[in-house]
Parts: sequence; C-alpha cells; structure tokens
Amino acid sequence: MSSISIIGTGNMARTIGARAIAGGNTVEIMGRDQSKAADLAKALGGGATTGEWGTAPAGGIVIVALLYAGVVRAGQGTCGGVHREPRLRPLDVGGLKMAHWLEGAGVVTVGLANHGVSNPDFALGITELPV
Ligand SMILES: NC(=O)c1ccc[n+]([C@@H]2O[C@H](COP(=O)([O-])OP(=O)(O)OC[C@H]3O[C@@H](n4cnc5c(N)ncnc54)[C@H](OP(=O)(O)O)[C@@H]3O)[C@@H](O)[C@H]2O)c1
Repeated sequence: MSSISIIGTGNMARTIGARAIAGGNTVEIMGRDQSKAADLAKALGGGATTGEWGTAPAGGIVIVALLYAGVVRAGQGTCGGVHREPRLRPLDVGGLKMAHWLEGAGVVTVGLANHGVSNPDFALGITELPV
C-alpha cells in the first residue's frame, strides 16, 4: 500500500484517485479550491483526505493532475510546495505537444529503473528545439 497525493480535482484526479483507492492505497487530494478537494475526497471514499493548497504533499507518490498552465506556475500554490519537496526535481519539458513523447519516455524510465540502472533516482530529459 502506498500513500498517494493527487494535486488537482478534475477528471484525471477523480479517475486516478478512484483507481488508487480501489488498489488499497491512501489518497490525499489537493486543489486550489478547497471545497472541490473536499467534495472529491468525499466522493472517492476509502478514507481519502484533503491537503492544504500551498503546502508540501504528504504522499510518498505525488501525481500532478492539473492543466499545463497550472503546473508551470511554479513557486505559487501547491506547485511551490512540490518544488520545495527535496525528493522531487520537476522539469519543464515544453508544451502539450510534448505529451506523447513524455508518455513513451515514462515507459522507458520505468523499464530502466527496474531492469537497467536498478534504481529510480534518475530522470530522462527532453529538450524541445526551436524550428
Ligand atoms: N481527461 C483526460 O482524458 C486526460 C488524458 C490524458 C492527460 N490529461 C491531462 O491531465 C491534465 C488534467 O486533465 P483533466 O481532464 O483532469 O482536467 P480538468 O478536469 O479540467 O481539471 C483540471 C484541474 O486543474 C486545475 N487547474 C486549472 N488551472 C489551474 C491553475 N492555473 N492553477 C492551479 N490549478 C489549476 C483545476 O482546478 P479548478 O477546478 O480550481 O479550476 C482542476 O483541478 C491535463 O494536463 C490533461 O491534458 C487528461
């Protein structure tokens, strides 16, 4: 069982949160609108809690389920909390068109962690070059 913080209160937060609860994990929901976070935590059930926006997430795993504009506003709100969390090293890898490359990079990263470098303490970076 893992402790998972989900930052966001929208479709993805609800879907991932439901899967996480079904898997027997503890879930913390954080949103800039505290009432939406509370509503989602209540709807998820399973002991889901809310965290305070602007503080570091409590979970050992942190899932950011915000619109891109919300993520890149580093230094504000909970994103500031994430950036202050010493275990995390967020990278700005470009706009939404980079998403499909990053999904593949994520699979490669998990594969390398399990079968290559044998630890999760690394990251793959992608640089979007101007054309
Ligand atoms: N839905 C899908 O099928 C899907 C699939 C793959 C990837 N994604 C990606 O997952 C992310 C979330 O998608 P979603 O469908 O969950 O979106 P959503 O339902 O619109 O939820 C967006 C969340 O982001 C928050 N947010 C928006 N702008 C913000 C800002 N400037 N600062 C802080 N928070 C902000 C919203 O808070 P408020 O409610 O307070 O506005 C809400 O909690 C997006 O990047 C999307 O591209 C979605």
